[in-house]
Order: sequence, then structure tokens, then C-alpha cells
Amino acid sequence: MTDLLAGRTAVVTGAASGNGRAIARRYAEEGADVVVADVREDPREGGEPTHELIASETDASATYVDCDVSDPADLEAAVETAEAFGGVDVMVNNAGIYRPENFLESTEAEFDRLMDVNAKGVYFGAQAAAKRMVARAEERDDDDPHPVVINMSSAAGIRGEGRLVTYSMSKGAVRLFTYALADALGDAGIRVNAIHPGFVETAMTTRDVELVGTESEQRMSATIPSGRFGQPEEVADAAVYLASDMASYVTGESLVVDGGMTS
Ligand code: NAI
Repeated sequence: MTDLLAGRTAVVTGAASGNGRAIARRYAEEGADVVVADVREDPREGGEPTHELIASETDASATYVDCDVSDPADLEAAVETAEAFGGVDVMVNNAGIYRPENFLESTEAEFDRLMDVNAKGVYFGAQAAAKRMVARAEERDDDDPHPVVINMSSAAGIRGEGRLVTYSMSKGAVRLFTYALADALGDAGIRVNAIHPGFVETAMTTRDVELVGTESEQRMSATIPSGRFGQPEEVADAAVYLASDMASYVTGESLVVDGGMTS
């Protein structure tokens, strides 16, 4: 590829599967070493573990670390793992869960789990990385690439959905957290942005909600200007852009990758 991320180290949560796996793979293709942080090693969609795929396909280093993002100590440990590769330069808070819900029947336990992974996991992932990035700020020359935090939101973080009340709440929180954090970390030279995918063909849309390959997918695709669901690689390309110096003046931004669905 083009070595857009040569010499950089990325930690990607939820990178065993789906969007996170595609991001980890693209980052490695662009020259970054990658820490794959997940609660499982095997991809939900099948195939070899992400770090093995990276080792066999690229010259980058990759390692897997068991990490439940709802536990800040696990996130600290995942970021610590990156020290062996020179320290985290790019933190992608991607891990997330999705649960169709009936608002009137939702339980506190279901609410807490979803918010713990989708919102708290992003907050403490960013914090663990930012602590290291700030501590290393003095070692950086002016023309070195800036550290980057990327948070995975969703089209549902822009347009609330009645079937996904808690999910929408968690993804809206990620959006505003991203704006606030870009302000909080701007002086430290850390860029913070969010990605908002629309429907993407991953285990989430094929297994958690059986959309892909169904009549519902066709019906929903007809309402999307691009006329189809997205692929994880299309989300990954957005994540490469935001991590690279091509986005050197982009911070506190929402990059929507949804085929025009929310426009
Ligand atoms: P996926 O289900 O294919 O992959 C999610 C990965 O996160 C899995 O490897 C899973 O093991 C991991 N994970 C789940 N809980 C975790 C935890 N507590 N700690 C660490 N890892 C954990 O899902 P997909 O589609 O790749 O989703 C990735 C992100 O993209 C999520 O934040 C999701 O909300 C977001 N997204 C996905 C869309 C889609 O249509 N697929 C649309 C909009 C946003």
C-alpha cells in the first residue's frame, strides 16, 4: 500500500471481528504495528485470528490481548501492551454491542451492559491512551505525526432509532464525548474524531440482527442513496484517513460512512 502509518502503533478494540478487524488489517497494510484488543481471539465471522492474518499478509507486527473494554484495568493493560512496539500513537475505540430492544421492557442490567461497553469502554479506552500520549508529548518533534484517538459511533448516534433506544443513547454519547475530548486534548496535540457507519455487513448485522441477505436488507438498501449496505473495508479506509497525516487539521469531527443514509 502507501505506508501512510509507517512507524506508528495502533491499539484497536473489538479488532477480532468486523469493522475492528478490517481497521487493524488496513492499518498493518499501511505500516502500523497493531494491538488487537478483544474479548475473543477468533473472528465472529470465521477465519483466522486478526493478528495471525496480519502476520501472514504484512510486514507489520501484531499481537492479541484479552480485553473487556467495560473494565478500565483491561484497557490500561491493552495500551500497556503497545509499549513493546514503542507506545500507542493511534487508539481506536471500536468495540461495541448491539441489541434490538423494546423500550418498555428494557431492564437495568441490559441498559448497564450496553452502556458499559459502548460508552464507558470508549471513555476509558481514550483515557488510557491519552495518558500515555500526553506523557510522551515532550519527546515529539513539531513535524512528528500527532497522536490520534478514533471513537466508533454510528448513524444511530446521529439519528435516534426507536428499536435501538439504548444503543442510540450510547452512540450519541460517543459523538459528544468526541467533540468534548478534542477540545480537552487539543493543547496536547492529540486529534480526536468519531466514525459513524451506517449498515455494514458484519456479524452484528448478519447474526445479532439477521438483516444481511434478507428482504429487510433489500427494503432498507432502497432507502440508502448508495443503494446497499457498506463493507467493513469502507469503514477501515475512513479510519486510515483519520489516523494519517492526511487528516492533520481534522479534529472534533464526525465522519459519516453510511452511503448517504442520514443525509
Ligand atoms: P462485530 O460484532 O462484528 O464485532 C465486534 C467485536 O467487538 C467482536 O470481535 C467482539 O468480540 C468485540 N467485543 C464485543 N464486546 C466487547 C468487549 N466488551 N470488549 C472488547 N471487545 C468486545 O461488530 P461490528 O459491526 O464490527 O461493530 C464494531 C463497531 O462498529 C461497534 O462499535 C458498532 O456499534 C459499530 N457499528 C457497526 C455497524 C454495523 O452495521 N455493523 C453500524 C454502525 C456502527
